[in-house]
Amino acid sequence: MKSSGITRFRSTAIRSSAEAASPRQTWDPERYGRDARFVSEYGIAVVEALAPTAGERILDLGCGDGTLSALIGERGADVIGLDSSPEQVAAARARGIDAHLGDGAALAYDSEFDAVFSNAALHWMRPPRRVIAGVERALKRGGRFVGEFGGAGNIRVVTQALARALATRGLDWKALDPWYFPDAEEYRRELEEGGFRVASIALVPRPTPIPGHLSDWLEIFAAGVSGAVPSSERAAFLGEVCDAAELCDSDGRWSVDYVRLRFAAHKSAPGRGTG
Ligand code: BEZ
Repeated sequence: MKSSGITRFRSTAIRSSAEAASPRQTWDPERYGRDARFVSEYGIAVVEALAPTAGERILDLGCGDGTLSALIGERGADVIGLDSSPEQVAAARARGIDAHLGDGAALAYDSEFDAVFSNAALHWMRPPRRVIAGVERALKRGGRFVGEFGGAGNIRVVTQALARALATRGLDWKALDPWYFPDAEEYRRELEEGGFRVASIALVPRPTPIPGHLSDWLEIFAAGVSGAVPSSERAAFLGEVCDAAELCDSDGRWSVDYVRLRFAAHKSAPGRGTG
């Protein structure tokens, strides 16, 4: 009894320190729909690269509110959405998507999809090896994995400003960084070692105008990072990040220094995730 009590105490202590180090990112679908519509608008080109056809079964990995899942469905494909946010899954279901709550690094599908699609989501899923292994397992032989996410250098100006404002408060950016932004060679290697043949992969800088102020963007996309700052200081923290980032033009319009990693790959030989 004594040792199980100690174990319970230890695991609680570990969990709470991990939560303090990395507060959970949450999503508000209404705000996302209002201020982050550009994400799915840019994602239309990724759906074009996927080229879904009628009758295909396709997994939208990190489907968010299901805007792009719906577009894929309009092409006649049978789409399943998966997202780690209960709020976004509910929003996707409300638009008629067969969406499920799940962890991209723990996919439980087996040889059932013709394609796995992902837009602006893979940088949230770690470790990438487990994500790729799950995608490989989920695909039928020859199935394709087509996606776009943040690549090396993505939002560098923003992350540097975040790191500086956190350091001022004694907080360590490395411990809080929620994102994975690989370069093309690193991700190619991960895909190939995971059993994929890479048809194309490239880093594409895409400075992106945003509809509102950078502080709105930070409140949506960096909520987990800002959550590490005491709430009484959060407004000052966000102000400091915005001032340091210098991403506003002379007319007061903000843009963010996105760099996309675009790829298309096909399941080939059995990968790491296959038996
Ligand atoms: C993106 O590259 O899409 C992204 C990365 C981090 C936060 C928000 C968006």
